[in-house]
Amino acid sequence: TDLSAFIAGLPKAELHMHIEGSFEPELMYALAQRNNVAFAYDSVDALRAAYKFGNLQDFLDLYYQGMGVLLTEQDFYDLAMAYFRRAASQTVRHAEIMFDPQGHTDRGVKFQTMIDGLWRAKADAEQQFGMTIGMILCFLRHLDEASALRTLEEALPWRDRFIAVGLDSSEKGHPPSKFKNVFARARALGLKAVAHAGEEGPPDYVWEALDLLKVHRIDHGNRSLEDDALVARLVRDKMPLTVCPLSNLRLCVVDDMTQHPLRRMLRAGLVATVNSDDPAYFGGYVNENYNAVQQALDLSRDEIVALAENGFRAAFIDAAAQQRHI
Ligand code: HPA
Ligand code: ZN
Repeated sequence: TDLSAFIAGLPKAELHMHIEGSFEPELMYALAQRNNVAFAYDSVDALRAAYKFGNLQDFLDLYYQGMGVLLTEQDFYDLAMAYFRRAASQTVRHAEIMFDPQGHTDRGVKFQTMIDGLWRAKADAEQQFGMTIGMILCFLRHLDEASALRTLEEALPWRDRFIAVGLDSSEKGHPPSKFKNVFARARALGLKAVAHAGEEGPPDYVWEALDLLKVHRIDHGNRSLEDDALVARLVRDKMPLTVCPLSNLRLCVVDDMTQHPLRRMLRAGLVATVNSDDPAYFGGYVNENYNAVQQALDLSRDEIVALAENGFRAAFIDAAAQQRHI
């Protein structure tokens, strides 16, 4: 059955989307020109043609290169506003966007420049599009914990501008345990916590995210299905998984969309949600993700509704706000 029209009008929450991963080649080019920054590809088409990834690291190499053209407050505003406009057009009513401060401060952009641009876009989008938005400060796990701790301290003047901390970038070889102290500090500050785990890394990394980082959601979590005891734990705790079907396909986490574990997750009783991860790089925003997995797995209308409701249940919003959306 074709549910694309139903999906297009369904109120949705998006909980796993890296704002730097919504950087469309056209905007990247425009900002490179505006900022007089040299760029390694000589056309938008050449850049898009390079988006062929064998694994997570292949993607990350391009992702860090792409974000290198972001320099001014206006750049961050334009980037975020483009995503919010797109999300609103897809009936996303609530978005929790991730950002990677170290990807900017490590190349000389001031924390304030980045956060002010994102914050102004959030305010304008909430007003213009009638959506609600939260921001999640992510630590790059390929860097050391000291850098993450410095980043959190640097963010404190803007503590009220983000709702949670997260953990992203190269997973293998960088287990959650490496970031135990910075997550403890974030929790002491009253922040929520999420972490990428079980995308490429083993089920043990999901256990660590739960037990050591005490996260409120697992980003991806696909490989949890390899461990029955872990699945039981996730079900018992109603621990949400923010699943990203097109990302999984493009980063070769699944060979084929018909092999995607989303239905198995739902059948196992897991609180799975659908998200776009890095929509400019992986071939679609949230509706394209719902459509791809709905068609490949022939998900029913009830399953689609359940996924969308899980998004609001898993969001960092109060019960009254959840009820307004479900
Ligand atoms: N995994 C890890 N790090 C990331 C991702 C991802 O899917 N997207 C952006 N940073
Ligand atoms: Zn991600």
